[in-house]
Amino acid sequence: MAETVKATNVVWHEGYVAYEDFKKRNAHEGAVIWFTGLSGSGKSTVAREVEWRLHQMGKQVYVLDGDNIRHGLNKDLGFTPEDRVENIRRIGEVAKLFRESGTIVLTAFISPYREDRDIARKLLPAGAFHEVFVDCPLDECINRDPKGLYQKAIDGVIPNFTGISAPYEAPENPSLTLQTGDNSLEECVEQVVTMLEQQGII
Ligand code: ADX
Repeated sequence: MAETVKATNVVWHEGYVAYEDFKKRNAHEGAVIWFTGLSGSGKSTVAREVEWRLHQMGKQVYVLDGDNIRHGLNKDLGFTPEDRVENIRRIGEVAKLFRESGTIVLTAFISPYREDRDIARKLLPAGAFHEVFVDCPLDECINRDPKGLYQKAIDGVIPNFTGISAPYEAPENPSLTLQTGDNSLEECVEQVVTMLEQQGII
């Protein structure tokens, strides 16, 4: 776990194209929209739909998704508390880089620990990080069980499963809460887009 910088003789380089230049070209702010919630709550589904919508609107947008990132960048990580901390630490850093390039980054990770989400938030300037709590009751997630993982977790086949045998800490003060059990996908997308407008990001 990289708490200190291991490499010596490394020097930070500034480029010629600054955040303000990307912003000017895109005609909108870069930002990190951090979706958090239980597995099966709808994080990826909403994020993908928002990505499509913003892309159609001509915005620079990109989704970082838990399952996908775990196939590549974070394929060395599992689901122990330590591995989840490192998972979110790396994602926070990647999201920061994307945001510096003027992108509206939509991250879709369970990110169960409040402290880790706060660490990701602190990497960004004020107003550039917004937590979106994808709030779906555990019972509903178990019912949906799109990947059949809850059943395996209940049967004890998968250990450390969020909501069953590992904790989830809900955000205390999110920019937005989506009730995916009660609202349609279209309604949730609309709420995110409205939030982006209200926050002056688009
Ligand atoms: S996080 O907790 O570290 O943020 P992340 O979002 O990257 O998790 O990955 C969660 C996805 O991995 C889930 O949607 C699910 O498909 C899968 N998964 C596999 N094992 C587990 C587990 N033990 N707990 C939660 N999700 C798991």
